[in-house]
Amino acid sequence: MADYLDNTNKKMKLALQLVSGYGGEFQSWRLADSNERAYTDIDFYVEMAKTAEQGKIHTLFIADTPSFGGAGGGTDISTRTPAFPLEPMVMLSAVAYATQKIGLVATYSTTYNLPYNLARQLKTLDTLSGGRVGWNAVTTGTRETAYNFGNKPLPDTATRYEMAHEMVEAVQTLWGTFGEHAYIADKQTGQFADMSQIKPANYKGKHYQVKGALPIPATPQGQPPVFQAGSSPEGIELAGRFASGVYANPFSIDEARAYRNVIKQSAIQHGRNADDINMFSGFMFTIGDTYEEALARRMQLIDFMSDDEFYGQIRYLSAMIGVNLHGLDVNEPLPKSLQNQATPHPHDPRSPRAVELIKQGMSPKEALANGVINYHPVVVGTAKDVADFMEKWFKAGATDGFSLAPTAKKACKILWKKSCRFYRSVGFIILIMKAQPCESIWACRISMA
Ligand SMILES: Cc1cc2nc3c(=O)[nH]c(=O)nc-3n(C[C@H](O)[C@H](O)[C@H](O)COP(=O)(O)O)c2cc1C
Repeated sequence: MADYLDNTNKKMKLALQLVSGYGGEFQSWRLADSNERAYTDIDFYVEMAKTAEQGKIHTLFIADTPSFGGAGGGTDISTRTPAFPLEPMVMLSAVAYATQKIGLVATYSTTYNLPYNLARQLKTLDTLSGGRVGWNAVTTGTRETAYNFGNKPLPDTATRYEMAHEMVEAVQTLWGTFGEHAYIADKQTGQFADMSQIKPANYKGKHYQVKGALPIPATPQGQPPVFQAGSSPEGIELAGRFASGVYANPFSIDEARAYRNVIKQSAIQHGRNADDINMFSGFMFTIGDTYEEALARRMQLIDFMSDDEFYGQIRYLSAMIGVNLHGLDVNEPLPKSLQNQATPHPHDPRSPRAVELIKQGMSPKEALANGVINYHPVVVGTAKDVADFMEKWFKAGATDGFSLAPTAKKACKILWKKSCRFYRSVGFIILIMKAQPCESIWACRISMA
C-alpha cells in the first residue's frame, strides 16, 4: 500500500448530504416518520445541521444542479422528491447563522456562473459563518441545465473543464484581492482599509475575464476550500490542482483504493501533498434494530414506487445479473439453476454485489431493497453493520471519509444511539441526538482532532 493510502493514525472525515431534506432516497418523504414538507422547511434543515454539528460531523454537503428535479432524481417529481434542496447558498445562510462549527460545502457550477458573483456570494457566506464554507466546483453534465442558461447546448467535456480551471482560478484570485491585513477599521485614524493591500484581480482567461477586486476582508480560514466531483481524466486533473475534497462514488474497496490513489497522485503531480486531498465516498444506509426491521423500511420505499419505476428497476437488475427476470415471482428467490447462471455485467460496478445477493437466495425485490442499483453503496442492517462497513473501507485505505446519505433523518438518530461503541476503534463519531453526559465528553475529546 502506498504510504499515503495507509489510514493508521488518521481520523475519518465525514460529510452529511442534505439532499432535498428527506434523505438519500427519493421515496423517503412518504415514510411515516418523515416530515413531508421537509423540502421547504428551513427549520428542518437547521435542525439537521445542528444535529450533525453535535455529532461532530465535519461538514454538510449540498449537491446541486440548477435545473428542475435534478440529475439524480430525473425531471419527473410527481411521486419522487427532487434530488437537490432549495438554492444552496440562501438555505445555508440560515443554517450558518444557527450553527457554530460545522462546515458548509455547497455545489456551484463552473459552467453556468460568473466568477465575480460566485466569489462574492461564497465569500459573504464564509464571512457570516466565520470561515466554514467550501465550494464543490462541478462542471455540470446535464443538458436540461444548459437550456436554463440560454439557447445553447452543453459544451463538451474538454471545454467544460477548460472553463472549470479558469473559473476556479478567477474565483480564487478574487478571494485573494483583499489582503489579509487590509481591513483596518480604525476610528481614531479614520482609516477603514489599507488600499496598498487591495489589488485588482485583472484575470484574463479564454472564457472568463474579471477586472476588479472583491471588497470583502479575509475570513478566518483564508479562502474556502475547493471540492470536486467528476472522474474523467480532466476531472482528476482539476481535483489534483485545486481540490481539498473529492466527492466520489466507488462501489468496492478495490475501486475506491484505485481512485483514491489516482487523485492523490494527481495532487502530487501538481506540487501538492497526498494528504492535501481527501476522498469522500458516497455511502447510503438504512438502520434497524435487526436486518429485518431495516429491510422492512426499504421494502416500504420500494412499495411506494410506481409499477413503471419498479419494473424498470427489475429490467435493469436482469441486465446486471445476466438473467431475464421477466415472468418470475419477484418476491421469491430465483430457482437454483437461474441463480447459478447469474453473472455480473462487466460495465456496471454494482453488478458483482447484485449477483452475490441473488446467489445467496435473495428475491429480486429484496436485492433491490438492499440498494443494488442505488447511486452509492448501501448497507441495510443494524448500526453495527453500518459502522463495520465504514470501518472496513477506512482500514483498507479505501477512502479518507464518507459523504453520508442516510435513507431518512430517522436513520441518523438511530445510528448515533446504537453505534457509538463501534466507532471508538476508528476514532470518529456520528450524529449525537440524545447523548448521555459521558458520551458527550468523549465526543468532544475526539472531535476534529
Ligand atoms: C459523485 C459525483 C457527484 C456529483 N455531483 C454533482 C452535483 O451535485 N452537481 C452537478 O452539477 N454535477 C455533479 N456531478 C457531475 C460532475 O460534476 C461532472 O459534470 C460529471 O461527472 C461529468 O464529468 P466527468 O466526466 O469528469 O465525470 C457529480 C459527479 C460525481 C461523480
